Amino acid sequence: MRVITTLAELAAAREAWMGEKQSCGFVPTMGYLHAGHLSLVEQARSENEVAVVSIFVNPAQFAPSEDLSRYPRDLPHDLALLEAAGTDIVFTPAPDDIYPPDFNTYVVPSGALAERLEAAVRPGHFRGVATVVLKLFNLVQPSRAYFGQKDAQQVAVLRRMLTDLNVPVELLALPTIREADGLAMSSRNSYLGAEDRLAATALFRALQAAAASFNASADTTIASLRRTMIETVAAEPRATLDYADVCDPATFEPLAELRAPMLLAIAARVGPARLIDNVLLNRDGSWNMGRRIGGQDSTR
Ligand code: PAJ
Repeated sequence: MRVITTLAELAAAREAWMGEKQSCGFVPTMGYLHAGHLSLVEQARSENEVAVVSIFVNPAQFAPSEDLSRYPRDLPHDLALLEAAGTDIVFTPAPDDIYPPDFNTYVVPSGALAERLEAAVRPGHFRGVATVVLKLFNLVQPSRAYFGQKDAQQVAVLRRMLTDLNVPVELLALPTIREADGLAMSSRNSYLGAEDRLAATALFRALQAAAASFNASADTTIASLRRTMIETVAAEPRATLDYADVCDPATFEPLAELRAPMLLAIAARVGPARLIDNVLLNRDGSWNMGRRIGGQDSTR
């Protein structure tokens, strides 16, 4: 595994794999890696000749009020995990190389996708995400890029960007990896104390209860799905709901009627952390809740 920190080194490595016509699978991350990130790396490795992972805590996607300075970091641990996962190249650029002092061009998503839910709560967030991902794609020039369905709105914003700007990268969205009790893995779970960690399962329980009510009853409506989610979170005193939504997974427009594909998306504050989760109703009628990995809790 090679750790590359400069743009020049990355360009040289890229010329080498492109010269040999090797396919490149790319996983952008902000580090503090867990099994969710590693599932993307494994897929990138299995489908491509070269697997590249970036670690960059992107200042442009944090609002001034958000957690940039306390965002968890542990590069030595991340590198050990990536080495064990068979990563070929880890790219850890310096902030000044990505955003030099005269930087002044952003990718600004618009429409429902860039206005509702996460976009409404975090102004400027998707501008920062779209900008850094397009920059990283230009630097790495991957054949395929791998993202987690856990951040469903991020996936939808980026798919829209790739189409709208004719970016020749194939985007793959992989299922959410969960702790044994259903909590979606997230670097931000490290903010949770023991009691909040237990309470944090309310998001998963709310999604599960809504999916179960959909399967159990022909009388289910958008309103009843939302009510089920809202009531499940309300029953957990340590959790405060931000939103519980039923929307189109590509446009993020709210749905007036039940149909597949359909996304149930939820966000809540639990103690010091703001957590998000979702479940996707597929066209074949199955729910994609992702995968639980058993055993010990991996929250650091
Ligand atoms: P980060 O939060 O580090 O996540 C990196 C990738 O891992 C994202 O595609 C995210 O959806 C995926 N991921 C996170 N938790 C997951 C889980 N439990 N199961 C499966 N995949 C999971 O998302 C970002 O960084 C940034 O916005 C980034 C795209 C790197 C741009 O800065």
